[in-house]
Amino acid sequence: MTNSPIPRVGGKKLLRSDICGRFPDTGKFDRYIEVFGGAAWVLLYKDKHAQLEVYNDADGNLVNFMRCIKYHSGELQREIDGFYNSREMFFDAIEQLNCRGFTDIQRAARYFIKIRLSFGSGGRQYGCSKKPLQKSADYLSSVSERFQSVVIEHKNYDDLIKVYDRPKAFFYLNPPYYGTEDMYDVVFTMDDHLKLNQRLNSIKGLFLLSYNDDPFIRELYKNFNIEAVERNNNMSKGSYKELLIRNY
Ligand SMILES: C[S@@+](CC[C@H](N)C(=O)[O-])C[C@H]1O[C@@H](n2cnc3c(N)ncnc32)[C@H](O)[C@@H]1O
Repeated sequence: MTNSPIPRVGGKKLLRSDICGRFPDTGKFDRYIEVFGGAAWVLLYKDKHAQLEVYNDADGNLVNFMRCIKYHSGELQREIDGFYNSREMFFDAIEQLNCRGFTDIQRAARYFIKIRLSFGSGGRQYGCSKKPLQKSADYLSSVSERFQSVVIEHKNYDDLIKVYDRPKAFFYLNPPYYGTEDMYDVVFTMDDHLKLNQRLNSIKGLFLLSYNDDPFIRELYKNFNIEAVERNNNMSKGSYKELLIRNY
């Protein structure tokens, strides 16, 4: 098990053992595809999920960050070491992500600063956290090692599912939740919830889908196995229900 170096809005740090505990039995799948990879908390929970493992996200800055961890973790660590926790560095990093002329490693470091120093990891407001930056950067080398056998993709979910679908494929999907689609840099629309449902209705492989517990989602997936699980909310310190939806 490895920790992710970044938190993610909707990230599955607290639910990852429940999620992995519901994966299909070994032997039922030989390829594991994480369609909405985010901070990769579920992928990193195990040393190997399958012979072929795929991490995917549509957010280019996030995917560049993951690729830099895989191929250049030492250089990325050195670049991050040049930053400290300040409001000015947070807003400069966000601005610089929109500028030309930076290398991929420099961009990855700025993306790390944008997420780590923001409120609730949303990447928009400065978080005023006193947690040292170093604490998460320390995970870079173990994540790099774990990623050596993982294919990193940067595709829209629909295209990715089409490319990797096989009878022995297993997809774990954690899309932006219904009603919280604008929390990410990549836009996910109402139409995407419907399109994802259509695609999952016709795949050859197996899937496990995490969603928020909402009547619309329950209705959309009523023909599948739906289970509600309790999840703690870091920010409100309360708990709420999430759905785990499966076609097996
Ligand atoms: C709830 S987060 C995933 C969190 C992840 N499971 C974790 O534990 O960190 C949803 C992710 O979907 C990505 N995303 C949004 N629209 C997408 C699309 N059309 N195709 C693929 N990924 C998308 C976002 O960038 C975000 O990282």
